[in-house]
Amino acid sequence: MGDLKQNEQNRQSFPHGGDVWSASGGSGKALEKILDLSANINFLGLSARVKAAIVENIDHIVHYPDPKCSQLISALAQHLQVEEEAICAGNGAVDLLDHWLRQVQAKRVLICDPGFGQYFRAVHAQGGQAVPIRLDEQEHFRLDIVQWEKKLLDEKCDAAIICSPHNPVGWVWSDKEREAIVNLVEKHHIHVLVDESFLDFLPDGREQSCCALAVKHRQIAVLYSLTKFFAIPGIRLGALIAQRDIIKDIIAHRDPWVVNHLAQVAGVAALADLDYHKRTWEQLPQEREFLIGQLSRLPGVKPISSTANFVLAHMADTGLSSTTWTEKLRRRGILVRNCNTFAALGERYLRFAVRDSSATERLIQAMQVIMKEEGLA
Ligand SMILES: Cc1ncc(COP(=O)(O)O)c(C=O)c1O
Repeated sequence: MGDLKQNEQNRQSFPHGGDVWSASGGSGKALEKILDLSANINFLGLSARVKAAIVENIDHIVHYPDPKCSQLISALAQHLQVEEEAICAGNGAVDLLDHWLRQVQAKRVLICDPGFGQYFRAVHAQGGQAVPIRLDEQEHFRLDIVQWEKKLLDEKCDAAIICSPHNPVGWVWSDKEREAIVNLVEKHHIHVLVDESFLDFLPDGREQSCCALAVKHRQIAVLYSLTKFFAIPGIRLGALIAQRDIIKDIIAHRDPWVVNHLAQVAGVAALADLDYHKRTWEQLPQEREFLIGQLSRLPGVKPISSTANFVLAHMADTGLSSTTWTEKLRRRGILVRNCNTFAALGERYLRFAVRDSSATERLIQAMQVIMKEEGLA
């Protein structure tokens, strides 16, 4: 019970990784010295084409941004392979999460635990109730569709949010599971938001997307983010894909200039940078395997395999809690995601973003030193 209370407090006070500003004393002065593995940002960093687009367009910020986001929507339509009217751009995916919840008037929303903390915040903010479904630790937290359906019915949920690749674990649905979910959505008349914020990290991600389903089925919508894959979380850019009238309604109710001009031009440049896509897909598998291999060599550390650019690792058998690990690494300038804000994970897990091998080596060396100091290795 004490654990639950603590988790609830953690959830409210520190819901997200990537807080490099606090770690650098608020000024951002020593930012480059910090190794941030707590937010899952593409290790390639900012694309040169995106940077050039931002610099070239800086003088245009004396004008209001295009409220229709015309060029961006056109680029997104091409990338996501859906019609322009089915897309709405937003100030990050999280911005659109709130709008979708308002639009569908979700009252009881089924959310996986562990799952992205902002789902819980957004549901509460819209006056709904978040209904958590505990994913089975023995099954490496993979969603079981049969149990998901049972929970939907038992708890009388009218909506659900699901995520593939699933943050913080990294599994992705099979085609069969995707099909089963669509059938259940129709059968039980619930609304489902599919968060595909990490799907671009998979070379065949577009084939695994639910975007086409969102255009066909009224009850399905897709959340898409450009901040992770294109390493632009500081500029904020996301999209929602749904049927035209849902998109129309959302646009009619919100701030018309929510997507700033620099975000719009950055998005267009990012989506056109096919070399960036290719390099990510070529390098990610080897960097991820290197991280998993190095972590598993440390006594008591058990990483879980992942399809995305992050790795969840069971740390309890090291003898230190996730909070102790997080603090000790932080003192060495390394930020990792303390998973104690996920009720299902308690003090047992850390999540690491995949970076290049030199970053992984820095992490592993720091962990080895900590283990030595603590008499664990
Ligand atoms: C699963 C998931 N969805 C959405 C987001 C938010 O993306 P954005 O930065 O576009 O708001 C995050 C950020 O951590 C995430 O983990």
